[in-house]
Amino acid sequence: MEAQASSTITLDSFNGKSVFITGVTGFVGKVLLEKILRSVPSVERIHLLIRGNRRYPSAAERFQQEVATSSIFDVLKGEDETAFKRLCERKLRFVSGELTAERFGLSEAAFNELAYDVDLVINSAASVNFREPLNDALATNTLSLHTIIQLTQARKTPVVHVSTCYVNGYHEGLIPETVAGPARAALSRAAGGYYKVEPLIEHLQNTVEAVTAACDEPAQRSEALVEAGLREADRYGWNDTYTFTKWIGEQLLLQHMQGQALTILRPSIVESTLHEPTPGWIEGVKVADAIIMAYARQKVTYFPGDPRAVIDIIPVDLVANSIILAGAEALMEPPCHRIYQCSTSSHNPVSINEVIQCVVQEGKQRHREYPNLFASAPRRPFVMIPGWAFHGGLAVAYRLLAWKQSLFSWLGAAVSSSQLSNLDAMVKLALIFSFYTRPRYRFSNENLCALAARAGAHEQEILPVATTGMDWQHYLQRIHLPGLNRYALRPRAIKAAGFKKARARRTAVGA
Ligand SMILES: NC(=O)c1ccc[n+]([C@@H]2O[C@H](COP(=O)([O-])OP(=O)(O)OC[C@H]3O[C@@H](n4cnc5c(N)ncnc54)[C@H](OP(=O)(O)O)[C@@H]3O)[C@@H](O)[C@H]2O)c1
Repeated sequence: MEAQASSTITLDSFNGKSVFITGVTGFVGKVLLEKILRSVPSVERIHLLIRGNRRYPSAAERFQQEVATSSIFDVLKGEDETAFKRLCERKLRFVSGELTAERFGLSEAAFNELAYDVDLVINSAASVNFREPLNDALATNTLSLHTIIQLTQARKTPVVHVSTCYVNGYHEGLIPETVAGPARAALSRAAGGYYKVEPLIEHLQNTVEAVTAACDEPAQRSEALVEAGLREADRYGWNDTYTFTKWIGEQLLLQHMQGQALTILRPSIVESTLHEPTPGWIEGVKVADAIIMAYARQKVTYFPGDPRAVIDIIPVDLVANSIILAGAEALMEPPCHRIYQCSTSSHNPVSINEVIQCVVQEGKQRHREYPNLFASAPRRPFVMIPGWAFHGGLAVAYRLLAWKQSLFSWLGAAVSSSQLSNLDAMVKLALIFSFYTRPRYRFSNENLCALAARAGAHEQEILPVATTGMDWQHYLQRIHLPGLNRYALRPRAIKAAGFKKARARRTAVGA
């Protein structure tokens, strides 16, 4: 299981190689692609699996319109946009495909041709919605891995699979970079170290069938499938369907890629870039940001959590660097299974309270610098309280509000609905995110640091993977919040971000 440390890891291993990447229309995927194009010139070809949408039915069109236009490429475009276009034309190949379809929806011939051309697979695509219906989460985060495995069979192609630190579920304490097990149920383990998940998958598929058969109405069925996912996840030891199905996915890869090179790379909560290509670049509203936004909009004053606990945040450029380094290693070292956690809580911890203080201070002192985040200086504090106090307080607040509403309507006066909607927003956020605001775990990244230490001097310089020495106050106040304001919350995006719609991945984005 453990990597056999031997030679120096260098980017030379990418010389003339062809890489297949999924998920480049997403946050991590865009940063990864930009970094490869900018810093790994020796890569010969990059195949991008992108599914078409109603507006842009083919991968190439969607790339041109939704990826190439992203500000993540501004540095690379520099003064010469034509050179960027030429670089894309030279390196990129587009695969219009759906991850969950058989052979990604490709013909057998096209799939085989792809399989024979690819030297390294980087699988970043996922459904990161914490409240995805069980059937969809299972299809995207678990069953699609059969097709990834199939793609690697002909040439025993190495895979770097982007997972999440939160596959460790309800486990507590210092979490090592090893195969995780269910915290609440006993599943049998194979000699290879992985858990045998086929019976579990069958059980979940039966659950999906039963729930589907019991609900005729589509919206009701979808909600029932969300609830079923959460129930099953909790029963086995996970907070949500996303992390549960990602965990099952890890087991499938470990099982079916015995004897092949497989690297599972688990980031924690991914946030804006620390350094490259420009500090603060971010897309969408992530876990911590959804709560920060709710506070900035004065929708949330109290939140359930433990202010002294350590929250694990990792800048996205360090995740991209880790993926590239892990890819270089997988291409040059003997095939084996490796697990790396891209995390900060064990080597450069930041407490939830420190994060809150940074945000509150910026809101009070410099809210005008963040027009897209703060409409005005927040008047109320932002306080983390124990879960029991939060839920008890909410029950009282709802009762008082109901009493106030009856009194007002008896008096014939209009009642403002904003207090009620603020309470609802708080409840919804707490439901989705409170597991992440009372962390009782820290993620070790020792293996990843050991990998970085084996990298060549040039690679160590251009591919940092850890935040050692990083000042959190500086990152949060001078990099992340300005980045959030500038890149994720441009005026047009504000309405769409909300808490209701947008694409689920932009609001309930995963860790
Ligand atoms: N963001 C975090 O905080 C975080 C933390 C830990 C781990 N991770 C992991 O990092 C990876 C990337 O996350 P992210 O934040 O970049 O997510 P993201 O922004 O939501 O991007 C997800 C990507 O997956 C693609 N995808 C989803 N379903 C697909 C399907 N059926 N067929 C083809 N493509 C599909 C999406 O394509 P469309 O545009 O077509 O939907 C998109 O490109 C994931 O594996 C996630 O588990 C993320």
